[in-house]
Amino acid sequence: MASFLILNGPNLNMLGKRDAAIYGSKTLAEVNQEISWVANELSVEVIFYQSNVEGELVNCIQEHWDKVQGIVLNAGALTHYGLSLKDALIDSRLPVVEVHLSNPGSRDRWRRTSVITDIARGQIAGFGWRSYTSALKVLAEIVEEESR
Ligand code: DQA
Repeated sequence: MASFLILNGPNLNMLGKRDAAIYGSKTLAEVNQEISWVANELSVEVIFYQSNVEGELVNCIQEHWDKVQGIVLNAGALTHYGLSLKDALIDSRLPVVEVHLSNPGSRDRWRRTSVITDIARGQIAGFGWRSYTSALKVLAEIVEEESR
C-alpha cells in the first residue's frame, strides 16, 4: 500500500483559531479527518506530522523518505523562506505537492514568493481543506501511474 506524508508547518496547529475567513473554520484534527477519509477511499496510508520548527520538519522528512512515496506539504510561512526544508525535500527525491488553504498569490506581497514551488510537482492553493484532499488524490494517482 502506498504511503504519503501529510506535512504541516508553523501555525497550522492553530487552525480553527486563525482567521476563518482566510483559513476556514476546521481545526487541523478535522482537516486530517477529511484527509483520512479520502485516504481510505484511495486505499493509501497517510502519516500526519505538524511542527512549528523547521528543523523538526527536516527530521521528519529524513526519517520517512525511504518509507513513503510522496509528500503533501503545507509549509505555512516557511513556504516563503524555508531553505533547509527545501533542501530536505530535494534530498528526499520524493514527489511533493505544495498545498495552501488560502491563495497566497492574492494576498500580501511577501506571500507571493514560494521557495517550494520550483521543486514541487505542483501546487494546489485557495480551496481550504479541500486543497489537501485534492492534493492527495492527484499525488496517489500519479504515484500509482508511475509505478506501473
Ligand atoms: C498558508 C499561507 C501562508 O502564507 C501562511 O504563512 C500560512 C498558511 C495557507 O495554507 O494558506 O501559515 O500556507
